[in-house]
Amino acid sequence: MSDDSKIVSTSEAQIAVHWKEEELINPSEEFIAQANLTDKSIYERFSLANFPDYYTEFADLLTWYKKWDEVLDTSDAPCFKWFKGGKLNASYNCIDRHLAKNKNKTAIHFVAEPEDERVSHITYQELYTRVNEFAALLKNTAKLKRGDRVTIHMPMSAELPITMLACARIGVIHSVVFGGFSSSACADRVVDSNSRVLITMDSYYRAGKLLNHKEVDDEACALAEKGGQKVDTMLVWQRYPGKMSSPSPLVEGRDIIVNQELKKYYGALVEPEQMLAEEPLFLMYTSGTTGKPKGAQHGTGGYLAYVTAMSKYIQDIHPEDVYWCMADIGWITGHSFIVYGPLALCASSVIYEGVPTYPDAGRSWRIAQELDVNIFHTAPTAIRALRKVGPDEPQKYRYKFKHMTTVGEPIEPEVWRWYYNVVGRGEAAIVDTYWQTETGGFLCSTVPGIQPMKPGSAGPGVPGIHPIVFDETGEVLEPGCGKAGNICIQNPWPGMMQTVWGDRNRFVESYFGMYNKDRNSKKWQDWPYMTGDAAVVASDGYVRVLGRIDDVINVSGHRLGTKEIESAALTVPEVAEAAVVPVAHEIKGKEPELYVSLKPGIEATPELQKKVADAITFQIGKIAKCKNVWIVPDMPKTRSGKLMRRVLGAISNKGDVGNVMTLANPEIVEEIRKMVQG
Ligand code: WT7
Repeated sequence: MSDDSKIVSTSEAQIAVHWKEEELINPSEEFIAQANLTDKSIYERFSLANFPDYYTEFADLLTWYKKWDEVLDTSDAPCFKWFKGGKLNASYNCIDRHLAKNKNKTAIHFVAEPEDERVSHITYQELYTRVNEFAALLKNTAKLKRGDRVTIHMPMSAELPITMLACARIGVIHSVVFGGFSSSACADRVVDSNSRVLITMDSYYRAGKLLNHKEVDDEACALAEKGGQKVDTMLVWQRYPGKMSSPSPLVEGRDIIVNQELKKYYGALVEPEQMLAEEPLFLMYTSGTTGKPKGAQHGTGGYLAYVTAMSKYIQDIHPEDVYWCMADIGWITGHSFIVYGPLALCASSVIYEGVPTYPDAGRSWRIAQELDVNIFHTAPTAIRALRKVGPDEPQKYRYKFKHMTTVGEPIEPEVWRWYYNVVGRGEAAIVDTYWQTETGGFLCSTVPGIQPMKPGSAGPGVPGIHPIVFDETGEVLEPGCGKAGNICIQNPWPGMMQTVWGDRNRFVESYFGMYNKDRNSKKWQDWPYMTGDAAVVASDGYVRVLGRIDDVINVSGHRLGTKEIESAALTVPEVAEAAVVPVAHEIKGKEPELYVSLKPGIEATPELQKKVADAITFQIGKIAKCKNVWIVPDMPKTRSGKLMRRVLGAISNKGDVGNVMTLANPEIVEEIRKMVQG
């Protein structure tokens, strides 16, 4: 961590002290009467004294071929192995085991963006058939086998969970890349995971436009090959089965149209592989403090047990519920809470192709009405957008939510209240779930059948999770002290990532670097997990997350590494230095703003500004689009040459730059301030 980031966390601490405590709001009696978890004794059963055995309650929600020999193996700490020796299959747990009683029940409602395309309802039986057939294709056509990695770069579609579950069925480790990511971002992930197979879809809709997606992956294959990983097989699903809806031609010998090839496998059945609990289920890349995204590796038994339990007890999913999580399956939220958790519980999960506010502010609520959705899950960025475009829109539709989730970034109490009163009509229980890509499932949230809600606070650690807040010197900050610190988790848990794919050292340094005293310790007690977030804990144990303490920006609930954006800017040959800072944004929460300085003799022009902006979209995707690209004569620096992002951040956010007289070039600060603030 840099000195800069510590300053950020200290100033966040100031905010914390002045934050007024919000009132508690109780979930309705109607909700509590039907809730899956109302027994308060769970907190005693799940106390640290009973760790790790209490987690067998979660594992017992699954069907195992063979039960585990050991609940937690710490011999390779902090790469923990859960339910060691146990055998299971995730696709079996999400599909096969439901068939006897529920084969005619809808597993997936797929809602296409064009509203005149009818919703497709895929039953568990059909899901079973399609997953088996595609698994046969993966095995026989693509020659994939247990332990291989596959990159999936697909839009929101029913075929995406089918693809994931088919991989899980045969023990292939999937690495899903968010559909909106660029060819270059996709190529990096293909290379890092050594995928020789890339699975894509020809096109998809986004805000009224049919996008040519295959084109992006043709380019990704070319870039991956340059990076040292050849894609020998590209499997292309058709958005409209039976016809190609992308003008990009097929590449001979590499591309296979899935919908045609599947004809060879009609009716095929593939026995699920009996996976060891600790074998990886998938990789999910996420941004860190350095330029290179890290592949969070999630295991089969621990992860699935954890997300199933969270879906049952925190999302309160019952098999008869229609559950809609608006996240994209390309992020961890979609993996855990559109696909694996809800399907393991035999619920009906909604997948929507498009944008919540397109073609108008009522679209989301019409979907909820048509499908009779009763559990709704989204992020503050979507809530802010829906509130902005249609503050009274929800009233116009007939739907009834019993439960709602907010996830991904802090929610302003005012936005929370609109969500509660208008979207939930004051009847739905809300959970504010705090967690990360790395954690697989929730860290902090209220249990909705047990605790009241507090707008703007996530809640205490979920049962089994024991948070602790440290200051920079490693002292514990007690609940109620009013100070913010680094929030850590004292104990490992089954949903926790196993390692960074191919880089154990990076895993240890990134998540345990600061508070571990003995690198050789085999005791879990010596490895508190570092989230990288600043948080305050109130005297009632409710956690309020303030934001990242490291060089990570949370844009629309998604993490972007400042270094990643800066490296993208530095691919432009004229650029000498780049610095990214987060700026507050009404809808997205935060937005990146970029400062660059040029190599000697190069002139700042609007064309160059655009070139830098385009480089970022090309390297990462539109999600990383910067508010502005400022070309500055020089960067503010300390005498030792350290770039002062904090000063730039203060300028971008019209804050106090503080004392800059000790800088090597104090005069530059005023010059940049004039340029930015006018
Ligand atoms: C970061 C993780 C969790 C899945 C989606 C994002 C922030 C997450 C909350 C919340 C305040 C939150 C944290 C965290 N965050 N949930 N309820 N309240 N902040 O996953 O991309 O891995 O990002 O999002 O800063 O570290 P991610």
